[in-house]
Amino acid sequence: MYRDVSSCNTYDYGDAVYWDARYLQEAGSFDWYQRYAALRPFVRKFISTSASVLMVGCGNAVMSEDMIKDGYEDIMNIDISSVAIDIMRRKYQFIPQLKYMQMDVKDMSFFPDEKFGAVVDKGTLDSLMCGTDAPISAAQMLGEVSRLLKPGGVYLLITYGDPKVRMPHLMRPSYNWKITLFIIPRPGFERPEGCSTPEKSYLEPAPLTDQGLLSPSFVMEDPDSHFIYVCQKMDDLNLNNAAPYPLNTNVL
Ligand SMILES: C[S@@+](CC[C@H](N)C(=O)[O-])C[C@H]1O[C@@H](n2cnc3c(N)ncnc32)[C@H](O)[C@@H]1O
Repeated sequence: MYRDVSSCNTYDYGDAVYWDARYLQEAGSFDWYQRYAALRPFVRKFISTSASVLMVGCGNAVMSEDMIKDGYEDIMNIDISSVAIDIMRRKYQFIPQLKYMQMDVKDMSFFPDEKFGAVVDKGTLDSLMCGTDAPISAAQMLGEVSRLLKPGGVYLLITYGDPKVRMPHLMRPSYNWKITLFIIPRPGFERPEGCSTPEKSYLEPAPLTDQGLLSPSFVMEDPDSHFIYVCQKMDDLNLNNAAPYPLNTNVL
């Protein structure tokens, strides 16, 4: 399996002590990679507003609050950092649709099987991939995510990891996930002036080979793009019948 160590720096992003110290120092909120406005088309397309949602590694991001403002009704937020959870629980004490619990994504045995219609992960698998025993941690986390998803439910992974480093972890047959990939530029990216290729629609899935790799002819406009993996838990009934929610102008 690939391990994307080149993208990790010297911090131990897999360590609760690191995150507790960071959240103690940094007041306010911070959303890694992308804000909800940019992710909304994908969230609204693949996750029903009535779904019970698990946000793994919520940190102090505003994403869950933005989802509630957008009509989502029930979001359970977990993080390994008790500091982050205390701050967020206090901040959102008057928003009953947002719940917070300190928990390790590698052991979510507190929740019964098939509890959630969707699991959202922005940067948390990435953190584990930068920690010790990364492949084992990833397998523990993803095994738990798979267990907690209802059949037909979706694991939405927003990451800097391209298919070469993420697909080997996501494509385990036991998860039985149908995986669709979207690629979006980082915030603030501008196409080079005079760029002759037609502008891409980021709402179109990226073409993948049978091995789950990007097709060699695919050109990524922003080399620092973010990847959105939509992993839908299939069962025998919906294997051939996986329809996402329609994209309409309301959502876009
Ligand atoms: C890169 S930050 C992303 C935070 C937030 N999701 C966002 O988009 O801004 C990763 C988060 O994962 C949390 N985390 C790291 N390892 C974890 C684990 N084993 N279990 C639960 N949360 C973890 C960290 O505390 C941190 O809040």
